[in-house]
Amino acid sequence: MGRALARHLTREHEVIIGSRDPSKAAAAAAGLRGASGADYKGASRAADAVIFAIPYEAMGLVPDLALTVSSKLVISVINPMKVEGGLLRYALKEGSAAEELARILPRSRVATAFNNVPSGFMKDDVVPPVDVLVAADSKETYGEAARLVSSIREMRPLYVGPLREARIVEEITPLVLNLANLNGTKALTTRFVTRRG
Ligand SMILES: NC(=O)c1ccc[n+]([C@@H]2O[C@H](COP(=O)([O-])OP(=O)(O)OC[C@H]3O[C@@H](n4cnc5c(N)ncnc54)[C@H](OP(=O)(O)O)[C@@H]3O)[C@@H](O)[C@H]2O)c1
Repeated sequence: MGRALARHLTREHEVIIGSRDPSKAAAAAAGLRGASGADYKGASRAADAVIFAIPYEAMGLVPDLALTVSSKLVISVINPMKVEGGLLRYALKEGSAAEELARILPRSRVATAFNNVPSGFMKDDVVPPVDVLVAADSKETYGEAARLVSSIREMRPLYVGPLREARIVEEITPLVLNLANLNGTKALTTRFVTRRG
């Protein structure tokens, strides 16, 4: 997911891909004009905004980055999921990954974005029209996250309210994955329509 986002964000931004292994990050950045690789600390220190595109199970690496992402925009794309009864299910009893991230990073401005967009949607140069749900505790943080989302053509940011709404956003991911699987469609994502007239 991180590489898919990097591919599209490099059109308007300089992107540093982070990894536990900097050589892996450099390999992921190779061929992406405007992208480079670094370890997580190096990447987050150099960046103005940081996107956490890591599995929920890897949240343990976040506290070590708290200082380097202090006062920066932090975007969570993290969806805690598990398999149960042949379906994907949301994995947390309460709260959300984004709220956990915000608790670990009290000096950062945390927002959700891109949670429900399968990386496959970004495999081509042009992304299909998508509504990207953004939760954030302030309109300023929402605005910053929304500008990042809008820098990918055909992505429309929609404000869902404060970070306590992040759970609803994250819960949509197992839903859209199950829908595609159960109904034999290609990957699905969120797109809201207005009535005519
Ligand atoms: N894939 C999608 O289509 C998609 C779409 C929307 C949201 N998301 C969310 O984005 C996050 C990443 O998804 P993904 O599909 O990109 O996952 P992934 O390929 O399994 O993991 C992404 C990267 O996380 C890093 N990582 C750091 N600590 C890790 C650990 N303890 N165990 C495993 N990986 C670790 C790994 O990079 P290094 O080894 O280089 O450190 C890995 O390549 C998830 O929370 C997911 O719910 C995914």
